[in-house]
Amino acid sequence: VDGSDSEWVEIADLPKGPETDDGMVIDSNALRTVLDRASRVAPYPATVLIDGESGTGKELIARRLHALGTRPDGPYVVFNCSNLMDTLAESQLFGHSRGSFTGAHRDALGYFRTAEGGTLFLDEIGELPLSLQPKLLRTLDEREIKPVGSTNGHRIDVRVITATNRDIGAMVQRGEFRGDLYYRLGSVRLTMPPLRERAGAIEVLSANFIRAAMRTLGVSISAISRSALEALNAYEWPGNVRELLHAIEHAVTSSDGGLIDLDALPDYVRCGAERGIADHSRFEHSEHVARFVSAADDGMLRHAIDDAVRRALRASGGQRTETARALGISRSTLYRWMSQMRAAESHAP
Ligand SMILES: Nc1ncnc2c1ncn2[C@@H]1O[C@H](COP(=O)(O)OP(=O)(O)OP(=O)(O)O)[C@@H](O)[C@H]1O
Ligand SMILES: [Mg+2]
Repeated sequence: VDGSDSEWVEIADLPKGPETDDGMVIDSNALRTVLDRASRVAPYPATVLIDGESGTGKELIARRLHALGTRPDGPYVVFNCSNLMDTLAESQLFGHSRGSFTGAHRDALGYFRTAEGGTLFLDEIGELPLSLQPKLLRTLDEREIKPVGSTNGHRIDVRVITATNRDIGAMVQRGEFRGDLYYRLGSVRLTMPPLRERAGAIEVLSANFIRAAMRTLGVSISAISRSALEALNAYEWPGNVRELLHAIEHAVTSSDGGLIDLDALPDYVRCGAERGIADHSRFEHSEHVARFVSAADDGMLRHAIDDAVRRALRASGGQRTETARALGISRSTLYRWMSQMRAAESHAP
């Protein structure tokens, strides 16, 4: 690589982000602010609610809160609430006593008591069934649990951390989550910023991830092209850090002669950047819809979509970008839908 040629940037010249001892790259001031706050609240037993989009590092922060807390040597138990089973959910969390229901051959501790003396991380707390929410609230208030089928309570000493990528405030409004529990869980709240709001983070993380991939995959990368860096910066990263990590692994394994150029990036990053897609969440959603539509190819659905497209086009005076935004779809999806519409019209009797 010619150092004077500005088309390539040496990996060694990319900015380096410091790492926490648990391997989290401090990629931006925005993340540093959250980490600082996490260190300040970690020594207190208050429940912490971590929110933020998928792939922003909620799990890493939860583990860090435990590590920086007063009992880092106590158990750290992770439970994902989407794994709660309908009829067994209460027992999974709070345990049961022998014979309390068919098949309960012996006492079961449940996740709360498994985490005694340490931390219980309840991930995807938005999935906690409404029916269990009062019991969780009581448990937190009284620091005592009552296993299913048992009359005695057990004192518990467990620090509870929860995380969600859903808007629980909105769920409360819709009556899908109890407000009292929401406020109790969120007495301390840490919000992970999305990647697109962390200034400078993409270069820092890319550099760290390229170096890590070189070590684990045993390949050597010397430089990345400016256009590849620009595409990485222009893409919206709906899957945040996790998605970037996968894109970099893809790029490293697709690199040619130790160089990462635009063509080594996954298609969706390249195309997304070229089109300058602005609204990532709608984009992701609409792509799912689009895939569903083409898979279903169902007449009624097709008709409803065509109708929506025509109305939106009319409302925007035929402006494509405006129409796509109003429909919550990317421009490329709009073009696809419009060409399908035209194809259908030309076949109409
Ligand atoms: N700042 C960071 N530095 C290094 N790796 C990170 C960072 N943030 C996230 N990651 C990595 O990105 C991936 C996703 O992080 P994590 O699982 O903590 O996200 P999450 O917010 O819990 O996502 P989800 O809502 O989908 O569960 C993991 O592989 C994690 O190690
Ligand atoms: Mg997670």
